[in-house]
Amino acid sequence: MSLLVVRVPPFFPVPHNVDAYGILSACMYITWLGHSCVLLSGSKKVLIDPFIETGSVAGTKPDFVAITHGHADHMGEVVTIKRPTVAITEIAKYLKARGVPSEGMNIGGTLVLRGVTFTMTPAMHSGRIEETGQGYGGGTAAGFVIAMDGVSVYHAGDTGLFSDMKLIGELYHPDVALLPIGGRFTMGPAEAMMAANFIGAKLVIPIHYNTWDKIEQDPEPWKEAIERTTDIRVKILKPGEMVEVKPS
Ligand code: NI
Ligand code: MN
Repeated sequence: MSLLVVRVPPFFPVPHNVDAYGILSACMYITWLGHSCVLLSGSKKVLIDPFIETGSVAGTKPDFVAITHGHADHMGEVVTIKRPTVAITEIAKYLKARGVPSEGMNIGGTLVLRGVTFTMTPAMHSGRIEETGQGYGGGTAAGFVIAMDGVSVYHAGDTGLFSDMKLIGELYHPDVALLPIGGRFTMGPAEAMMAANFIGAKLVIPIHYNTWDKIEQDPEPWKEAIERTTDIRVKILKPGEMVEVKPS
């Protein structure tokens, strides 16, 4: 008996967006604002996990906010900035009740909003919504593949390593992977190195480290190990720094 191996083709075409003058957006800027908070700037601005340790993300004025899970270091300012928000159904309901315009979705699903494609991926992590003095069921934790302007970005959220990250690579072909490396609450460098291999994005950016002592990591040996053993490039950013990514 022979096994027929079916390669899954890129099913979701990455949208290429044109502006009001019909000009194709040439690239996407990815800014790490710190911790898990990342701003994708192209024809639209998407802010993922709007928490930073000091200061405020309100000035970024995003078109959309994406929330990976309910923990306070990811929800951050989502309730106060009140921008259109994409999250798992439980968190979307919670946010709507607090006056935040929200779109619910769930793991495995894709939502297209004004030329931006949001695909919700699994994450191995807990997901209760935290509020001072209270807690709410927040569904499960998730990650996102977000695509616009011909560029696709995977933000893993808070997660341990899981082998289905290979499927995220095969199905959604992210150009860039944003991976937690801080350890203790998420993957550490060893797990994140294998994650980078599973996903296969040509550019990897470390997040969720050095915000606090408990998630202290040196990203340099991790970068060196990945770049020595694979064709993947690692870009270590300082909070507030950005990288320009061109459509592949
Ligand atoms: Ni968390
Ligand atoms: Mn976290």
